[in-house]
Amino acid sequence: MAADSGLAAIDHVGLAVADLDAASDFYTDLLGVPPSHREEVPQDGVRAVFFDLGSASLELLGSTSGDSRVARFLGRRGEGLHHIAYLVTDIEAELAGWRRRGAELIDEHGRPGARGRLVAFIHPKSAHGVLTELCQLRDQSS
Ligand code: CO
Repeated sequence: MAADSGLAAIDHVGLAVADLDAASDFYTDLLGVPPSHREEVPQDGVRAVFFDLGSASLELLGSTSGDSRVARFLGRRGEGLHHIAYLVTDIEAELAGWRRRGAELIDEHGRPGARGRLVAFIHPKSAHGVLTELCQLRDQSS
């Protein structure tokens, strides 16, 4: 993204896991801290567990439905890095910037996502193979 980019920071990195409870136990032990947040996101067919690490978080994603995006990802590629999420201050302006660059948007507009954020996803083929999530804190929206 170029000079008008409003990507402020990495908000979180999302990992797709086959067994959310086992992965959550693993990272609790590895990081020495319990999850900061757990949430089911029914509209995405996932359960998410977050660990805070400095200014960014780790998001573990388990599928709750056989046809969710995460289930398809796990079936195709197995466990691993699923997406990188950037914090933005104006998600609609940011999406307009991606649209101008010809990106394939999975979400044309921000929509409710985990942890109360507004989120929108960009197709991996428009970001060098990485599913990209934009996140806006809702109390910052005008
Ligand atoms: Co995410």
